[in-house]
Amino acid sequence: MFYQLPPAGNPITLRKSDKPLEDLETIFQTSRFRLYGSGTSALAAVIKAVMAARGTGKAEVLLPAYTCPELVSATLFAGADPVLVDLEPKRPWLNLTELEKKISADTAAIIAVNLFGIPERFDRLKALTKHRGITLIEDSAQYFPASANAIRWQGDLTILSFGRGKPVSLLGGGAVICSDNSISHYLPSNETEGGGAGFTADKLFQLKATMYNLLLSPRFYWLPESLPFLHLGETVYHPMDSIKAFPSGRLAYLPPNLKAYWDRHRHSGGRTDRIFSQLTHGEWTDLPAICCGNELPPLIRYPFLAANKKQANRIYSRSKRHGLGVTRMYKKPLNEIEGLEHVFAGQGPFPNAKEFADLLLTFPTHRGVPENFAEVFNKTLRIDTGI
Ligand SMILES: Cc1ncc(COP(=O)(O)O)c(C=O)c1O
Repeated sequence: MFYQLPPAGNPITLRKSDKPLEDLETIFQTSRFRLYGSGTSALAAVIKAVMAARGTGKAEVLLPAYTCPELVSATLFAGADPVLVDLEPKRPWLNLTELEKKISADTAAIIAVNLFGIPERFDRLKALTKHRGITLIEDSAQYFPASANAIRWQGDLTILSFGRGKPVSLLGGGAVICSDNSISHYLPSNETEGGGAGFTADKLFQLKATMYNLLLSPRFYWLPESLPFLHLGETVYHPMDSIKAFPSGRLAYLPPNLKAYWDRHRHSGGRTDRIFSQLTHGEWTDLPAICCGNELPPLIRYPFLAANKKQANRIYSRSKRHGLGVTRMYKKPLNEIEGLEHVFAGQGPFPNAKEFADLLLTFPTHRGVPENFAEVFNKTLRIDTGI
């Protein structure tokens, strides 16, 4: 119980930039970005902008049936109708055949998610959206490029999150990168103050960031895990009430944190690949190995699909007992999540998303994962579970 690897999360650096906006332009390689209070606020702003640019009342947004429920919150808040699309069998990607069938005259946008950091197939998605005037939104909350050279914003608009457990965390915040300038001037301004400025707010942020860094240690992570009111690891639907502003006092911390992320990747030397290539089990689907080719992108978590649900449950409960940071992520497709059943009544079934949810196991990839993780896993789990 007293040793728990956190499932995800990188430490926050408390270095500050004295010209943050200039630095962000250099890092993002564009001046066309807007900051918001969260990834969800950024996504809602994008959908509102797409709707304003279209100028018609009804708008549908297509999104994967297995993803974070915040995509639904943002879509509904913006005033659009979310339409779910099943996944490809045993893949984290939108099913292209079903996607094409669900495109209608009302389709305003498609949200493509880089789940865990595995890139969506943007070339194929662009071939479907370009000539139809549909906006392609890249949801990159779970992915940030490993270096300046790797930056390729793939959507007409891309959203980023700086929330807890994200590739680059400031305990909150989000951004929109606008590759399609015809939409950018429709982006709504922040409706609610972000707060977070001033001496006290700065000290409070520093304190929270220090606590966050401390709790990333396996010696302390059991503590927040054992507090049920924090709801860690639970998938809960939260309706949105406003588009929040980026907390202005945190702006100076953002560029140094993005640079620290790049530094970590420069020095990681294929660590994730090395650790998880030893973990591959004949019966499992090694999603990054299958979906990403030779060079792994930075993965927020390493996802495998177990051979069957029983095995997934068994590995999860045993690895939890051994504090290995394994998770089942969202556990259900969006249409089955509590509070969303009525939103998606009449949509589905989504058999591939359901199977994905049933079989998924994610493993931690952060710096706290020991180099001998596979050995520990093999010893403690394979023997325990007999796989
Ligand atoms: C794929 C995806 N999109 C959007 C979001 C929303 O980001 P935020 O938590 O910053 O609102 C998340 C959050 O977990 C996410 O995983």
